Amino acid sequence: MKKLLVLILFLACAVEARAQATGLIANIAGRNHVSLDGQWKAIIDPYESGDQYHFNRDASPKSKSEFQEYSFDATGSLSVPGDWNTQRAELFFYEGAVWYKKSFDYERKGDTRLFVHFGAANYIAEVYLNGEKVGRHEGGFTPFNFEITNLVKEKENSLVVKVDNKRYPDGVPTLMTDWWNYGGLTRAVTLVVVPQTFIEDYFLQLRRGTKNQISGWVKLNGDKLAQKITVRIPEAKINKTFTTDANGTAQINFTADLSLWSPENPKLYNVSVEAETDHVEDSIGFRSIEVKGTEILLNGKPMFLRGVCIHEEAPLRSGRAYSREDAETLLGWAKELGANFVRLAHYPHNELMVREADRMGLLVWSEIPVYWGINFESPVAFAAAQNQLNEMIARDHNRACVILWSVANETPNNPARLTFLKKLVERARVLDPTRLMTAAMLHHYADERTQMIDDPLAEVLDVIGCNEYIGWYDGLPTKADTMEWKTIYQKPVVMSEFGAEAVYGLHGDDLTRWTEEYQESFYRHQLGMLKRIPFLRGTSPWILMDFRSPRRLLPGVQDYYNRKGLVSNRGERKKAFYVMQEFYRELQQRADH
Ligand code: GCU
Repeated sequence: MKKLLVLILFLACAVEARAQATGLIANIAGRNHVSLDGQWKAIIDPYESGDQYHFNRDASPKSKSEFQEYSFDATGSLSVPGDWNTQRAELFFYEGAVWYKKSFDYERKGDTRLFVHFGAANYIAEVYLNGEKVGRHEGGFTPFNFEITNLVKEKENSLVVKVDNKRYPDGVPTLMTDWWNYGGLTRAVTLVVVPQTFIEDYFLQLRRGTKNQISGWVKLNGDKLAQKITVRIPEAKINKTFTTDANGTAQINFTADLSLWSPENPKLYNVSVEAETDHVEDSIGFRSIEVKGTEILLNGKPMFLRGVCIHEEAPLRSGRAYSREDAETLLGWAKELGANFVRLAHYPHNELMVREADRMGLLVWSEIPVYWGINFESPVAFAAAQNQLNEMIARDHNRACVILWSVANETPNNPARLTFLKKLVERARVLDPTRLMTAAMLHHYADERTQMIDDPLAEVLDVIGCNEYIGWYDGLPTKADTMEWKTIYQKPVVMSEFGAEAVYGLHGDDLTRWTEEYQESFYRHQLGMLKRIPFLRGTSPWILMDFRSPRRLLPGVQDYYNRKGLVSNRGERKKAFYVMQEFYRELQQRADH
């Protein structure tokens, strides 16, 4: 009896160990998968009774006398992917727990393994299958997956996910943000079927500073870790083989003559990564990105980042954006503005957005939500930040469009913050030595007419991001006319935020706040100032489109919208849109000559 117990315990640990051992599975779309999107049963549980009454068990009373106070069958449903706030009026401000449930059948094919993959769930997700806990995830904007091979049944599987979007002092982000805290299963949920030993992840990019040296790795997961790996790029006549080491990882290095990815030529190659037991296809672009002094070099050539900031707010309908159409609309507006760059703020946007930027030829700044007053002393906060950094990089490290990883936005300069952020930068450089590191930082007055950039964090960054609101939070637009900028660093600066609010269709003189004329004037004066900054190598005005924020309360003007968009939430272009468009057209013409 004791031996049997030990054996069961050992097996349980083995299952647990393997489940934990699996990192993020790359490129779900390129695998054998089943979508679980659609209507999910959903119990709104403000007092989290579900923990006490074990909603994870998804039980039904076995007799008329049995006491039970919840029922997934009798409850309403919510759409997945989607935030719950914009699906039901009573959930608009809701911050708390919701228990989602989806049933599915599963016919196992041969000796395969099964994972459940989430594009994202805001903020904490606890995942159960058939009553058993399979895992917990913290962080609202990055993907995660859990193995369910040994828990899945043929019929009537009950997948229950408790999602809690409450804000926490040690959370990332923490209590205060200037965006709507959309809760729920905000991105796709997918069943992924893989062989016993499968290709868990791969990284294929140009080695930093080269135009023809591809370097990276392929990582297997499973029992048969010693295998031959073949990387094929048929269009470039590439067909290279490598072998994995004892841990199932193959180092990849080869020379290739490729057409390099750029906004003007967003060339993506069909790449296949093959092992003896598995293979994955992907579309990958290759480009080099580096800095030299104050220059940003794309494929060896200096460039200016003509950008705009974007929140993951759905255009024309509000709520969390999640679809390819949302991405096409938002990035289409950015292109119309004349952008070659987008700052996806303040958290990793969905994979469809990044892959669309790859296709459309828009360079990307991707960021984790280490935003404002994070508790930099807290190991819980650090773990949450580092985990989101790992997942952001793991998901998008093969996207040529992504050139910048940002570790923070407008964080107060103090020793704990510096230590915290420096550790994240170090980590990112280990995970991805090919891309540039940045952060959106603050600046200060050196004197009444000089802004100084000397944040100590910039020492460990490649590109300095700087947010300023001279003419909106700081004085009137004309203030920019006499403002000079200085920096102690010999590094490129991107003005990562500047902007003013306007209600589309509200008109007046250019000193009347909230009018299109004030916003237009703000931009004219801003551009005058920006053109005088010798080390400026990019701009991303705040922001492409009006977005929801619980901090924007002015009735008849904001109504829970931050109105700094160059485009309204209904897609109407404000006058300032054309001021930026004209500036980018000038820059583009200069770059073309
Ligand atoms: C900040 C912040 C944004 C915010 C913006 C604003 O700088 O980074 O998240 O929305 O300013 O005040 O509009």
